[in-house]
Amino acid sequence: MNTLSHARIRGTGFYVPERILTNADLEKIVETSDEWITTRTGIKERHIVAKGQAASDLALEAAKAALADAGLAPEDLTHLIVSTVTPDSFTPACSCILQHKLGISGRVAMDMNAACSGFLYGLEQVRAIIALKPESVVLLVGAEVLTSRTNWEDRATCVLFGDGAGAVVVTGSADAADSGRILDTLLYSDGAGADLLMITGGASSEPYAMGHVVGPSHFIRMQGQDVFKLAVRSMESVSREILERNGLSIDDVALLIPHQANNRIIEAVGKKLGLSGERVYVNVDRYGNTSAASVPIALAEARASGRLPAGSLALLTAFGGGFTWGAALVRF
Ligand code: UT7
Repeated sequence: MNTLSHARIRGTGFYVPERILTNADLEKIVETSDEWITTRTGIKERHIVAKGQAASDLALEAAKAALADAGLAPEDLTHLIVSTVTPDSFTPACSCILQHKLGISGRVAMDMNAACSGFLYGLEQVRAIIALKPESVVLLVGAEVLTSRTNWEDRATCVLFGDGAGAVVVTGSADAADSGRILDTLLYSDGAGADLLMITGGASSEPYAMGHVVGPSHFIRMQGQDVFKLAVRSMESVSREILERNGLSIDDVALLIPHQANNRIIEAVGKKLGLSGERVYVNVDRYGNTSAASVPIALAEARASGRLPAGSLALLTAFGGGFTWGAALVRF
């Protein structure tokens, strides 16, 4: 086995656009209230893009921050992966555009779509790349402009989502004790729940024709209660499974970093796992649900604020459209 073949998170970073949309702002758009949104979701505000800002623009800022944190330059990268359901365009890939904006070319660049689990799906790809080519320097970004697919007439969904990007830089590592080592990733999917959370309008199942009017199917549609129950169940079970197969217990976990969709979901998962308070990372109040960006934003914030000291174990878990779900263990 090559001595560099442990994948290690060397740097983390995130970016959210400047503009903030508060619950009070939403009260002017749909029939809702700060009280309903706060009690049902925990969200107080979310960041939304300025006109003309696309996913690659958010990804660029997050990537720069992660590279700076790693002490590396764009030129050092060999691979760029962007997980997103809201890329700049169907083609070219967001990762290709990001590569160009970083001022480099000739690297491997690809997008992934695993919705809110996209970052964890990306981490497994990164581990595979490092195992195959241990000298690789991989940038993984979760970047979303969910407000580009938000139906501002649907109060059941428009209060939930925000825009942002989170990134990590991963390299091979010779020393198993190095900080940021990805111990394991565990992923699942099930297409049976596809129609509970979807965006279909303008895609190949529902193609555009000239003169078509944009309708609800062009935006996120979700059966919230069904998704809620599945999200709690799936994140709990995949978290238990990944700990068990690594010979670890919940007592070993310093910080649970769950997908930030709804504080009630986060609390329920934490409670079922026996984790609460300081051991569960929450920022959904400030960013809302940013899909593939949510876990890496939380990870970057948690590291920057000292919540992941040397030797601590982070348990990452997510659930999203597809359905997809998964977990990862990272030792800092
Ligand atoms: O990121 C991928 C994973 N996504 C998720 O995990 C999201 C999972 N789902 C959820 O977080 C929750 O189901 C929601 C936050 C979406 C909804 O919360 P809920 O407690 O499941 O509410 P509900 O859908 O059962 O709606 C309860 C009531 C309804 O009124 P009636 O029928 O009881 O009269 C809704 O019409 O709340 C009403 N409602 C609202 N009221 C004020 C729905 N949205 C709003 C709103 N403001 N924004």
